[in-house]
Amino acid sequence: MTFLLSSFMQANRRACRWVESLLPAGFRANLHRRYEPIVSAHIDALSHPVVIDVGAGRQCPYLKFVGDGREPYVVGIDSCEEEIRHNQDISAPIVGDVTAALPFAANSVDIITSRSVLEHLKDTASFIGQCSDTMVDGGIMIHCCPCRFSPFALINQMVPNRLAKFLLALFHPEWAEDCGFVAYYNNCWYSRLTNVMKSHGFEIVAREFRYYQAIYFDFFLPAYVIMLSYDLLIYALGIKNVACQMIIVARKLPTRTGSIVSRPVQRAAPVLEAAGGAARRGTAA
Ligand SMILES: C[S@@+](CC[C@H](N)C(=O)[O-])C[C@H]1O[C@@H](n2cnc3c(N)ncnc32)[C@H](O)[C@@H]1O
Repeated sequence: MTFLLSSFMQANRRACRWVESLLPAGFRANLHRRYEPIVSAHIDALSHPVVIDVGAGRQCPYLKFVGDGREPYVVGIDSCEEEIRHNQDISAPIVGDVTAALPFAANSVDIITSRSVLEHLKDTASFIGQCSDTMVDGGIMIHCCPCRFSPFALINQMVPNRLAKFLLALFHPEWAEDCGFVAYYNNCWYSRLTNVMKSHGFEIVAREFRYYQAIYFDFFLPAYVIMLSYDLLIYALGIKNVACQMIIVARKLPTRTGSIVSRPVQRAAPVLEAAGGAARRGTAA
């Protein structure tokens, strides 16, 4: 029975892959991959920048694109010690909930970045406010996250997390590891998130959207085709608020008089204090 189901899903996937190969490249673009050169380009634009990777998890995939000699100081902060413990890319790990507090000195951070994390935060506005407090004027925030009003996200919000994890493991075992955290999608749609950012003193400097989510249904061709029709329609109409994923790049506007300044080269490193506990410095234990 399991073999039959598996063969059936494999056959459907092959058919969906063929349909996918006919779709426009821009529509199929993988924002997880796009995120990496976007972050590395902002790191490359500074010498020795202080970078905070929020919800860094097990790796910082953008670092492999960073140019020689840049040597960013990357602090990974994650509420799950088990995840950050595996991260060998960062300069310093911190275990902490970023909605509780960002344990960095004011005006000490050049870049704050996150991938697949905002949707897991209960209070995104409070988090963005803290980003603003800790960042230098002209500092850059890059966030890549799924959006609240995509059908997949709506299903994810309607069914209990355990059921969502079970369904994902059944139909997409390859993503089960990445998608096991509870998702709230608080403020996670384009107009709302950018308004929150603007209200905390950021300007939006770049944005990218993905509308292709039919891939979640590639285990059953008819469902894939129905979903794909919807995806192509909103892609053609450019309805950003119902995109399934977005990357937003925002710059912190100057809070003092004068123009945006680059960070002072001799500035002190950020104060590393884990929220509610001791800081963890150096390599993860
Ligand atoms: C889907 S994973 C993404 C990991 C990594 N950014 C990546 O792209 O591979 C989400 C990560 O966010 C972390 N996370 C969730 N809520 C958090 C919070 N409130 N504060 C800090 N980290 C959080 C999780 O522990 C997990 O490591």
